[in-house]
Amino acid sequence: MVNVLVIGSGGREHAIGWKLEQSNNVDRVFHAPGNGGTLNNIPISVDNLDELAKFASENNCFTVVGPEAPLAMGIVDMFNERGLKIFGPTKESAQLESSKIWAKQFLKRNNIPTASFEVFDDAVKAKEYVNQIEYNVVVKADGLAAGKGVIVCDSKDEAEKSIDMMLVDKKFGDAGNNIIIEERIDGIEASYIALSDGKIAIPMATSQDHKRIFDNDKGPNTGGMGAYSPTPIIDKDLSQKIQEKIIDKTISSLRNEGITFKGFLYAGIMLKDGEPYVLEYNVRMGDPECQPILMRMDSDLFQYLVGSVDGTLEKMPPISWKNKSAVCIVLASKGYPESYTKGDEIFGLGKAFDDAYVFHAGTKEQDKKIITNGGRVFGVTALGDTLESAIKHAYGATEKISWKNKYFRTDIGKKGLTYL
Ligand code: AMP
Ligand code: GLY
Repeated sequence: MVNVLVIGSGGREHAIGWKLEQSNNVDRVFHAPGNGGTLNNIPISVDNLDELAKFASENNCFTVVGPEAPLAMGIVDMFNERGLKIFGPTKESAQLESSKIWAKQFLKRNNIPTASFEVFDDAVKAKEYVNQIEYNVVVKADGLAAGKGVIVCDSKDEAEKSIDMMLVDKKFGDAGNNIIIEERIDGIEASYIALSDGKIAIPMATSQDHKRIFDNDKGPNTGGMGAYSPTPIIDKDLSQKIQEKIIDKTISSLRNEGITFKGFLYAGIMLKDGEPYVLEYNVRMGDPECQPILMRMDSDLFQYLVGSVDGTLEKMPPISWKNKSAVCIVLASKGYPESYTKGDEIFGLGKAFDDAYVFHAGTKEQDKKIITNGGRVFGVTALGDTLESAIKHAYGATEKISWKNKYFRTDIGKKGLTYL
């Protein structure tokens, strides 16, 4: 049997490790660097590729990469060169996420539906452009900015300020040297995640994230404040449409361009008048979408990850899912996604969580205590026979956990109820 090394320290990685622990084909699961809730933590940071490879090699590990940063750095290419098994896309494939400009140009030349856009590196020209068009825009930094480099603008004034923030004030550093200005599409948003081996892509369960910090989708975007699965927004017909027009087309277009995409392909979708548009690609599982999705997964995740690496997904049965709903509520530190405190002691984790699982994210263990160590601190995830009961179970569990600066949205999953 093989060991697994999960790279990353968020709620997504805790959930991946938790699921892989249940596999009969996995011996031990290690986390690098992990968090206060993960087992077998190895103190190697996600960008120390050399040490990660060394650990994986010495400990007979199949490596699973959670976050985008090491993928964009080329961890998969490097492990492959050393003959180490690793799940995830290569550096070239990861451009779908690491460069929004690369992704938009790919979408355009392959006729995959997306909002119209222009690219700028000059603030004066960008503002001129914004002032000559009729519609509202979204301003996006080209590079990786932890889900925060996107500003959905309500006015020309806001667009101008966003342009200055990125191109003049360099709020996102080099990630904002080039920006995209694209048409704002007002519709319903959902996440569609598939698993590919470069030849085919098999869908994961559907889900919906809650990106804004405050209830009723108010306030700035975050990495995600909660998610549920499945979402009634993506019914069978729509699922098939997204699979064919977006996911399969992406994988085959990449292949035509000489790129074999292996890993999770995540399309952020906006639905308008029943038609799906790609807002963004991610080349990894969503966080927090991963938590409710994996809680519903009955199949052995490990075998599917191996199928992706080996190019054998076609031979595998469809993934089986629990016929239940799952909801994940993110408990954050007050102030997130801007500034927040770290080091607050957390209480209540020893209580019984009968119908929920507490995935840790920004936590760490210090002097036998668990303290906060990030903006998103937990993803409290629960199952229910219905979406309504899953919401109830998850919120019930959140009440048991407390610390000085705890903050969470009170309406996670509600959007799903209005579509039932
Ligand atoms: P992205 O990282 O590109 O997905 O953008 C983050 C969030 O900004 C998305 O989840 C949407 O809520 C919003 N967004 C991005 N692009 C658009 C668009 N063209 N129209 C409306 N909202 C958008
Ligand atoms: N929840 C959105 C993301 O993982 O990018």
